[in-house]
Amino acid sequence: MAAGRERAAGGDMPPHLPVLLDEVLASLMPLSGKTVVDGTFGAGGYSRALLDAGARVMAIDRDPKVGPHAEILAAAFPDRFTFKPGTFSELDALADGPVDAIVLDIGVSSMQIDEAERGFSFLRDGPLDMRMSGEGPSASDLVNGLEEEDLANLLFGYGEERKSRRIAKAIVTRRAAQPISTTGELAGLIEKSIGRKPGAIHPATRSFQALRIAVNQEFDQLVLGLFAAERLLGAGGVLSVVTFHSIEDRIVKRFFSVDAGAGARSRHLPERQAEAMRWDPVARAVKPGIAETDRNPRARSAILRSARRTAAPARKVAFEGLGVPEVRMRGAA
Ligand SMILES: C[S@@+](CC[C@H](N)C(=O)[O-])C[C@H]1O[C@@H](n2cnc3c(N)ncnc32)[C@H](O)[C@@H]1O
Repeated sequence: MAAGRERAAGGDMPPHLPVLLDEVLASLMPLSGKTVVDGTFGAGGYSRALLDAGARVMAIDRDPKVGPHAEILAAAFPDRFTFKPGTFSELDALADGPVDAIVLDIGVSSMQIDEAERGFSFLRDGPLDMRMSGEGPSASDLVNGLEEEDLANLLFGYGEERKSRRIAKAIVTRRAAQPISTTGELAGLIEKSIGRKPGAIHPATRSFQALRIAVNQEFDQLVLGLFAAERLLGAGGVLSVVTFHSIEDRIVKRFFSVDAGAGARSRHLPERQAEAMRWDPVARAVKPGIAETDRNPRARSAILRSARRTAAPARKVAFEGLGVPEVRMRGAA
């Protein structure tokens, strides 16, 4: 078993159990002497394991609270580890020099979910925040500021919430009396408006997911990050991406396929012109085994996709063809 699973950046009790770690490492082997960008540092579980395998690691995270974990690794591996705050959508600008591989472990960390103050969880009462970076509009700004129709479209588009209109109506009615300021208040309101079926997921699950995706612009970040990786990696470089959501997995799958993106769909190219492949699959999509999901239920929906960069030139950024949900907004928050 990889060392990183036992301990994250330091200590014996990892604040976040790295998901599909052995499989991610296997997709990047051999690692000794390689330079890897870890675009989603979190608690440093992947970074630590990559360093243990002999790689040089440039880590990135948008969450300022990961700083102490990065400091532990910087002290332990002063010559092979660097950390930069920022988003992986700009990873090609943040990386110093050539890179052999990139890993992205998309989504929220256990630290973010477990800390009530960050407002990610409907199970822990806290301020309605959800900002990974702590900057920009919060979930409260969206919930209390969006027009009813925009709110419904957001819950439907990003959360696949079929009762989005009823929830949006309930929110707008409630906030007319008083702004909705806590996760508990919003979760209770959603439960009251659409009910709760025994054995089903919590009725607020999809709405919270939608708000989190919107607040952190997660789909845009993912698409931009994939194209940034395409620009940064030279021929033979590997990109491994772990997602936790079917829409994100669809984006990654389509991105790696030959049809996706601007080049193949450009109106300026003859319709059937063959495009050179930008990516060769390293392996089939990988899901966690029962042993991992028993140990870490948060791994249940994880999927790893890895592909190797070819020598074909990078495409221009384009969202078309990748299956990113369109959320129509009439008014601003
Ligand atoms: C699932 S955790 C990563 C856990 C990490 N692999 C580990 O083993 O500890 C995801 C991390 O990515 C960060 N993140 C999410 N979106 C990001 C983005 N667009 N740019 C940079 N970091 C991002 C989050 O702040 C979070 O710390």
